[in-house]
Amino acid sequence: MRAEIVVLPGDGIGPEVTAAAVSVLESVGRRYGHTFAFTHRLIGGAAIDAEGAPLSDATLDACRKADAILLGAVGGPKWSDGKIRPEQGLLKLRKALGLYANLRPVKTHPVALTASPIKSHLLTGVDMIVVRELTGGVYFGEKTRTDTTASDLCEYSVAEIERVVRRACQLARGRRKYVVSVDKANVLETSRLWRQVASRVAAEEFPDVRLEHQLVDSMAMHLIARPREYDVIVTENMFGDILTDEASMLAGSMGLLPSASLGEGTSGLYEPIHGSAPDIAGRGIANPCGTILSAAMLLRHSLGLEQEARCVEKAVAQAIDDGCLTADLAPQGAALDTLAMAKAVLQRLETEC
Ligand code: NAI
Ligand code: MG
Repeated sequence: MRAEIVVLPGDGIGPEVTAAAVSVLESVGRRYGHTFAFTHRLIGGAAIDAEGAPLSDATLDACRKADAILLGAVGGPKWSDGKIRPEQGLLKLRKALGLYANLRPVKTHPVALTASPIKSHLLTGVDMIVVRELTGGVYFGEKTRTDTTASDLCEYSVAEIERVVRRACQLARGRRKYVVSVDKANVLETSRLWRQVASRVAAEEFPDVRLEHQLVDSMAMHLIARPREYDVIVTENMFGDILTDEASMLAGSMGLLPSASLGEGTSGLYEPIHGSAPDIAGRGIANPCGTILSAAMLLRHSLGLEQEARCVEKAVAQAIDDGCLTADLAPQGAALDTLAMAKAVLQRLETEC
């Protein structure tokens, strides 16, 4: 197949980790006979510096036309005090493309277990995916501010809840057929609607999927106490933001975790869950695995290349199992740099697939 992929390296370690992921996609293309055409564009601080805005119309247009978008990260101290902020580019992109479902898989690798602050016997075999609603809720509601008060409106429509719950149930069908919907229905009206709609969608359209409801505060506890039990978790924007950062600690390093942001069509935005890591930027030591695994999600969700996606995931898991670790996971002095880690994954692509 032929696919147009827009690459948005962004800031900090973004260019380092996206280069690694592009090299993996190129290798997959060669092995399986696909042509991936990459177009590199600016986003975030890099775009503010060069183009005066964090996401230019031309870049947004290129993203709209692409089959998929691969992104590094945006932001950094250089732009943190400015009026135009790098994050605005990312929010604009997600909203403009209607990317309402943010998928964040969390899987633990045996070798990485020691890097997590959580006891390893709780972590063995963790394999869950959090589906976070990404374009609604309190982050996008009306904001007001006076000298003495401030408010942020939290709003959800039936249609917004239906589509994200549907996406979660569809994912569950290819997994353990178990969805936990997280809300705060004892307090919030939006959560009561969320719970009602989730129950209906699951009962009417997914009788084969088991749906349970969990309050967000107890979910925060269970996520750490018994993470192995979860399969698919679906929740609204802010709860998902908080729970996915918490869930990332299960895997041991932010550098390992991928994400996909999807809308109605097949296109999507794929990025590691970490930020631009200014503390290690430019040193070539960032862990590229989160971005490489995001590229695997791109192959699966936007290009329909399931076999190729699994192959990349297998290559990353095998490299880590073989003890190929970057500084965020390795004991002092024994670490691979970004390029060496990417090479370790590329070698396993050759032998494993
Ligand atoms: P961060 O995720 O960039 O870094 C947190 C810590 O994890 C740092 O110590 C960093 O060195 C480490 N780390 C992150 N990714 C790593 C990797 N691949 N390999 C090894 N170590 C890694 O979060 P932080 O420091 O809070 O934010 C830095 C900048 O990134 C800020 O400007 C923030 O706004 C931005 N940011 C952007 C995001 C995005 O583009 N989606 C998401 C989160 C933050
Ligand atoms: Mg966050």
